[in-house]
Amino acid sequence: MKKIAVVIGTRPEAVKMCPLLLELKNRKNINTVLCVTGQHREMLDGVLERFGVVPDVDLDIMKDSQTLFDITERTMSGFRDFLFRQSPDVVVVHGDTTTAFAAALSAFYMKIPVAHVEAGLRTHDAFCPYPEEFNRTAIDAVCKYMFAPTEKARENLINEGRNKDDVYVVGNTAIDALKYTIKRDYSSEILQKAGERKLLVLTAHRRENRDDPKKFRAMLSSVAKAAHDAGAYVIFPVHKSPAVRNVANDVFGKYDNAMLCEPLDVFDFHNICSRAYLCVTDSGGIQEESPSMSLPVLVLRDETERPEAVECGAVKLCGTNSERIYGEVYRLLTDDAAHDAMTGKKNPFGDGFSSVRIADILTK
Ligand code: UD1
Ligand code: UDP
Repeated sequence: MKKIAVVIGTRPEAVKMCPLLLELKNRKNINTVLCVTGQHREMLDGVLERFGVVPDVDLDIMKDSQTLFDITERTMSGFRDFLFRQSPDVVVVHGDTTTAFAAALSAFYMKIPVAHVEAGLRTHDAFCPYPEEFNRTAIDAVCKYMFAPTEKARENLINEGRNKDDVYVVGNTAIDALKYTIKRDYSSEILQKAGERKLLVLTAHRRENRDDPKKFRAMLSSVAKAAHDAGAYVIFPVHKSPAVRNVANDVFGKYDNAMLCEPLDVFDFHNICSRAYLCVTDSGGIQEESPSMSLPVLVLRDETERPEAVECGAVKLCGTNSERIYGEVYRLLTDDAAHDAMTGKKNPFGDGFSSVRIADILTK
């Protein structure tokens, strides 16, 4: 029987891979083993628990304020031992984290075929996002099976000289996850707190933003001030990274129209987002999810590897300049026509059946 090893380490990998893991576990003719690196601890465990997915092996690598060296070294040595013990026929990685990069490289060193879910995303700028642009490009370089979410992602791979027969356009499993999480009848304290006010969901964690505390502080201050001036209510589930927490607490401490909280359970996050008025974020995954939630998104970055989201009209890049951020956030909170023009878009990232397509290909 064919053995498929899946490896994940962070929250976004878990959200997007749980639908595929559940699909693979349902197939009779394969044996699926899940290795988690634990690059994220609480943020990973919460998602797995919600989807009812239990890892077979946990490398438990996370350290407080870990460096890229820490994650790479610990994943490579732990995953090498896992591969020696398991001898899988194929290793499946997701996206652009250092877990995915280090696991793909380990499998390549052992000449085990690698499959990449969410292959082909590119900004063509190695430092934006950093180190994710490098990670995903390097993963694709050692891959046998590339599951591209869109035609554009496929084109990126073909332009890099990859064999077209190894690239499959399957959509993004992020959209599959929404079928599990979004509920028609949902209520929460957070929604009640916002009351009649427009609800703005804020998330921020990218290294290239948070690693410059002065700039990061100015960015968050602009969002806070624009929401305050527009009479909106902000919910900011703060990423566990200490570099994010210090600045977030400092900036929002003086606003009474904002609620800072722990990272939200993925079911809560998706349901709150699908009822919110606006999202401001530097997240990758949220750009994919937002068209399905009819949620306009302002992205705190200069570029995106998900241009389809911008082209469909649901997402706008607003950069990292604090004056521009203030202007864009304030405008979308006060100009209903501008806001409404970004809602009701067809999601370009898939139809919610990507996991079935990937499982079909992997089991053939
Ligand atoms: C990682 C990924 C990034 C992804 C993000 C999703 C890399 C290089 N980066 O970045 O692509 O967008 O995850 O959120 O792989 N921490 C905890 N508990 C947790 C999670 C994190 O305490 O459950 C703290 C730790 O102090 C950790 C720090 O957050 O050192 C940063 O985590 P890390 O995985 O290094 O970076 P992220 O910014 O989360
Ligand atoms: N998310 C969540 N709780 C939160 C914030 C985000 O469950 O408090 C989900 C979000 O819906 C998406 C994923 O986490 O599925 C995105 O993770 P993140 O922004 O950390 O990483 P990125 O997508 O930028 O790699």
